[in-house]
Amino acid sequence: MLLQLEDIVKSHRQPNGETLRVLSNVNMSLERGESQALLGESGSGKSTLLHLIAGLDHADTGHIFFNQKRYSDLSDQQKNLIRRQELSLIFQQYHLIASLDVADNIRIQANLCNKIDEDYFTHLTKRLNLTKHLNHYPHQLSGGQQQRVAIARALLHRPKLILADEPTGNLDETTSKLVMDTFFELIQENNTALLMVTHSPAMAGYCDTQWQLHNGHLVRS
Ligand SMILES: Nc1ncnc2c1ncn2[C@@H]1O[C@H](COP(=O)(O)OP(=O)(O)OP(=O)(O)O)[C@@H](O)[C@H]1O
Ligand SMILES: [Mg+2]
Repeated sequence: MLLQLEDIVKSHRQPNGETLRVLSNVNMSLERGESQALLGESGSGKSTLLHLIAGLDHADTGHIFFNQKRYSDLSDQQKNLIRRQELSLIFQQYHLIASLDVADNIRIQANLCNKIDEDYFTHLTKRLNLTKHLNHYPHQLSGGQQQRVAIARALLHRPKLILADEPTGNLDETTSKLVMDTFFELIQENNTALLMVTHSPAMAGYCDTQWQLHNGHLVRS
């Protein structure tokens, strides 16, 4: 088992001082290479759940295990290492660095964990149609091209798990499908697991399993 969530409960403190319970006893698990989609209304807690799995926030109660390691047993430094080396995050807003060109943007996380593989860099940039854009800057790219850069960046260090929060939320349907077709081929090649938040049933259909987050609980959809 790559990822396991046991009875996760999470509340957020609201500006008026009240607490809002967002997740109530969430249980799920993810095997290596498996892809799962997470659907649910706006405000249902999808991003909150990804933040907990990324170790960016703490659950009130319950446990998260990544590769058999329990987050609550790890120091912040150990969690940082897992996030840097074993995980990748992809967001709706691509979060590229404006002052770095495409090649440097793609290499940034792999550089941080000393895992640059030039052959794989070439493979990824060819497959994602970025070869001609390596010396361009983010502002010179379309939204679809920027998301392909974010995908290459997320894959180059060969993470075990990718957490994607509405990765096609800013793209039209045709571009979304083109980007997702290649993305799924690449994660399958690498046996990378994926947990993907999406509002689109078509995008959720790319994943092995679909979950709905409703009233703080995960239900199969
Ligand atoms: N850090 C925080 N502090 C306080 N409240 C928060 C925090 N993060 C999220 N919330 C609240 O928790 C609820 C769930 O938010 P979350 O971002 O997880 O929803 P979501 O399912 O990702 O929604 P969307 O589809 O709109 O992105 C919302 O009511 C939000 O206002
Ligand atoms: Mg969200």
